[in-house]
Amino acid sequence: MEIKEINTRYSKLADSECCLSCGGAINYARPVAGEVCVDLGSGRGNDVVRMAGLVGETGFVYGIDISDGMLEKARANAKKFGVANAGFVRCELEKIELPDRVADLVISNCTLNHAADKQSVWNEIYRILKKGGRFVVSDIYAVAPVADEYRNDPVAVAECWAGAVTRDEYMHHLEKAGFGLVEILEESAPYAKGHAEVASFTIAGIKKQ
Ligand SMILES: C[S@@+](CC[C@H](N)C(=O)[O-])C[C@H]1O[C@@H](n2cnc3c(N)ncnc32)[C@H](O)[C@@H]1O
Repeated sequence: MEIKEINTRYSKLADSECCLSCGGAINYARPVAGEVCVDLGSGRGNDVVRMAGLVGETGFVYGIDISDGMLEKARANAKKFGVANAGFVRCELEKIELPDRVADLVISNCTLNHAADKQSVWNEIYRILKKGGRFVVSDIYAVAPVADEYRNDPVAVAECWAGAVTRDEYMHHLEKAGFGLVEILEESAPYAKGHAEVASFTIAGIKKQ
């Protein structure tokens, strides 16, 4: 999907009432005072606002998103709650416009399945984490490979199912990026979504080096 197309599609979703999340990443992440946190696919900014409160004035939270509509909502949300220690960056997950080793914590909720190049996203997560930094990600995986006819269908990808990779592929991306040990914090039973069978999980890992 081209950036322009992603932007239009998700900006429309920004105005909808629908819940865009698929797990409880933020509930497990436990950001503490002074930490620098990043939310990948920050959407309307709810998790950014919540983390900004937890890290306090000595910490900072970056929300990363490509959709102007989502970013507009997120910035308004942060303003409404008087958040001064957060900022939103418009960029692709595959090319995160943040320096190396900047983050203590990276979270993401139901977003990585939307990315076209998932290996690059995981490489980027590894790059922006400090040594000893952690990620907590809620996402969806496919029980069996999604058929090619849907995999590249932008509507089906935006519906949070067609972009999902299998659990094995998911773990392979993590390992290749440098995350050796991955903890499964929650995992659903498989369920039907669109034309696929998927499951959602929340996973965590640490950048050791
Ligand atoms: C399903 S929403 C989840 C939003 C939020 N995390 C939540 O739980 O409410 C996915 C978000 O990822 C963003 N997104 C999708 N693909 C992206 C990409 N390649 N780069 C950056 N952001 C992307 C969309 O704009 C959207 O805000």
